[in-house]
Amino acid sequence: MKIAVKSDAVEKESTDVIIISLFENMKSIPSELNSLNKASGGTISNLMKNKDFTGRLNEIIMIPTYKKIMPKRILLVGLGKSTELTLDKIRQAAGTAARTIQGKKFKSPSMLLYKTEYKDISTEDVTRSVVEGVLLSLYNFTMYKTLKKEEKTDINNFTLFIQRKDILDKVKSVVRNTQIVAEAVSFTRDLVNMSGSDATPTFLANKAKGIAKTKGVKCRILSITDMKKLGMGGILNVSRGSAQPPKFIIIEYNTKKKNNDTIIIIGKGITFDSGGISLKPGKEMDLMKADMAGAAAVLGTFKAISNLKPSIHLVGLVPCTENMPSGTALKPGDIIKCLSGKTVEVVNTDAEGRLILADALSYAKRYKPDAVIDLATLTGTCVVALGTFASGMFGNNDGLKDRVQRAGEKCHERVWELPLWDEYYDLIKSNIADIKNVGGRYGGAITAACFLAKFIETIPWVHLDIAGTFLVEKDTPYIRRGATGVGVRLLTQLIQDWKKMPDASKKNKK
Ligand code: BES
Ligand code: ZN
Ligand code: ZN
Repeated sequence: MKIAVKSDAVEKESTDVIIISLFENMKSIPSELNSLNKASGGTISNLMKNKDFTGRLNEIIMIPTYKKIMPKRILLVGLGKSTELTLDKIRQAAGTAARTIQGKKFKSPSMLLYKTEYKDISTEDVTRSVVEGVLLSLYNFTMYKTLKKEEKTDINNFTLFIQRKDILDKVKSVVRNTQIVAEAVSFTRDLVNMSGSDATPTFLANKAKGIAKTKGVKCRILSITDMKKLGMGGILNVSRGSAQPPKFIIIEYNTKKKNNDTIIIIGKGITFDSGGISLKPGKEMDLMKADMAGAAAVLGTFKAISNLKPSIHLVGLVPCTENMPSGTALKPGDIIKCLSGKTVEVVNTDAEGRLILADALSYAKRYKPDAVIDLATLTGTCVVALGTFASGMFGNNDGLKDRVQRAGEKCHERVWELPLWDEYYDLIKSNIADIKNVGGRYGGAITAACFLAKFIETIPWVHLDIAGTFLVEKDTPYIRRGATGVGVRLLTQLIQDWKKMPDASKKNKK
């Protein structure tokens, strides 16, 4: 979509619809809207006076202007109480408005941002939230639908009107950057929504190669032979039951420079998780085509970062394989050796994510990274604990956890910390191997994280369990049902806000 930013008087612009947001129960019309309101014969103030529009969050009303002004319609959307404004409410209102006009064949919809600054919210943040709300809400997964021409509902042009000329350049640049991020989120959502038989490990590896065509990005794919040479027993054993060859994607942006920190992002890339020999029940097994949402988030983040070009050294490690049952598959009770040399008693082949991540975490060490963050649809237990509104966060470094937490708040991909106390580690001790892959009935998200912690050891690390957040079952104001693309905005925010890790914070507890 093309987004233009203009500072002309909107009442004199021809547009199918002009979106305008209003706070709840305002005593009078904001002064910035006076001339538009007057020109339209008092339409907005009358609606407010008669309580036909109260400004409740996500309330919506579309009114024709009967040629009194150039815009053909006004679409009012409620922002809720002015004292309770948040970035996410801006996103929601923008998303609700954009969805209302989607599919209506409007050629030139627009929005008036008559105010871009609030008490503790900057012009940058307002603009970013508005554009995110619009672009994220319009995403629709139609890849597999046979659509008639009239069913294609894309909005190709959108104009943002602001009133202050002095911030025009700033707003334009925020719009550009937000578009880059939103496109990366759509890319990730497509991968996660796709059929598991299409989005295979090889397919994901090819997507990574595609991203590596951008200047400053390179990528290397480890084949099964490479993995055997290295001794990547985690991913190799998980892939044993599958007809699809596993791939280990290494993607790198920028190179190590003196003043750059090295951040590694790792994503679980199980392109279908049947459970393996510990076969999952049939109910909702179809969702397990999305067990590569962590992998897709890492690739999406690379797409965004390679265009935004922050000064950071970023490495993505993405182990990709299916987890399938077959005569050659990994069996419960098997003992395997991972890349680190540690042996693992595989009690349950459905706890496969941690096995492939163990290899990636060990591989990460060779870069001597300043921070490692992994994203994984790792445990159903995490969804039981936190529901669908927060990803589980675990980590060994307070400074890094703090950064991730703040980035999550800012973009509303929120995280909530769960503990990694010593007692939990006792639950994954094995009698016959160095460690076992399942810790028993309780605290499953935590014991899974403890397992990972044993492989990253002292490197600053955060693990995000996104099993509850990778998907929404119902439409929300700016995310339609299906894959959310969680992780892309969080990681991009984190990386863009990155300041060099202080040496003192690199000392960890475990
Ligand atoms: N991919 C699943 C976890 C999952 C469940 C993700 C639901 C998204 C939604 C993972 O590989 C798994 O099967 N975990 C098991 C672990 C158990 C066998 C210890 C789980 O959480 O039940
Ligand atoms: Zn599993
Ligand atoms: Zn899984």
